[in-house]
Amino acid sequence: MSRVLSGRPVEEAIYAQLRRRISGFSRAPKLVVVRLGEDPASVSYVHLKDRRARALGLRSKVVVLPEDTEEVELLRLIDDLNHDDDVDGLLVQLPLPPQIDQHKIIEAIDPKKDVDGFHPLNVGRLWAGEKSGMLPCTPEGIMRLLDHYQLELKGRDVVIVGHSNIVGKPLAALMLERCATVTVSHACTKDLKSTTRRAEVLVVAVGHAGLITPEMVRPGAVVVDVGVNRTEEGLRGDVAPAVAEKAGALTPVPGGVGPLTVAVLLENTVRAYESRYP
Ligand code: GUN
Repeated sequence: MSRVLSGRPVEEAIYAQLRRRISGFSRAPKLVVVRLGEDPASVSYVHLKDRRARALGLRSKVVVLPEDTEEVELLRLIDDLNHDDDVDGLLVQLPLPPQIDQHKIIEAIDPKKDVDGFHPLNVGRLWAGEKSGMLPCTPEGIMRLLDHYQLELKGRDVVIVGHSNIVGKPLAALMLERCATVTVSHACTKDLKSTTRRAEVLVVAVGHAGLITPEMVRPGAVVVDVGVNRTEEGLRGDVAPAVAEKAGALTPVPGGVGPLTVAVLLENTVRAYESRYP
């Protein structure tokens, strides 16, 4: 059986450090999360972000707009929040409805308040290896998890399955900074199995329950499962449970990477506050 890489102790260490930092602030940092419509996954994620922010002692506000909100209205709201001195961190939950250009919305957010790390300025800083930008939450959470369990990345063959702007692409940048040899595979990859079998560290973030089966995994590999799929049997990752017999280490779903995404988001909110009030 593989080693279980729980996110819980890693999350706890991040929160303990944040509590110490916040205790010295003259006011509680404020996070604003904007959500459009009632997509069940978005409702659940936003609720979790709000609850965890409050539990940490931050101020948190969720703005819910109707599904048919016009792009110009959302841009106006973002402009107001950018100029609101009381707001430290701001994010718009994705995906957005089709009448709204996601890129335009992300670019409208003040990069200093962009706690998702999605603004092109923060993405550019990430790829340039500059540490001053906002770090993307899920990829940075994965790095914290691997560091916590002292899993070496230097010189390792890392394969990432999924090339999203939220996980796959920014994670590749963070892994390269650690001197890993990184392959990013996706739906157009010709032979996924022979690619994933090369991985000493395999990260899967595609949103397809059980996509990765034991024969796709190199014996002893470190496997990071980012998938959270709502199935009839409950929450399932992108990695089939039988992979636990083959991998050297595996993150559970739930309780692996998920909690770390929120922990890094709140850390970014604290960093945003600190950079505004040095
Ligand atoms: N939708 C799924 N994951 C994320 C995330 O990390 N940030 C935002 N804004 N939307 C998401």
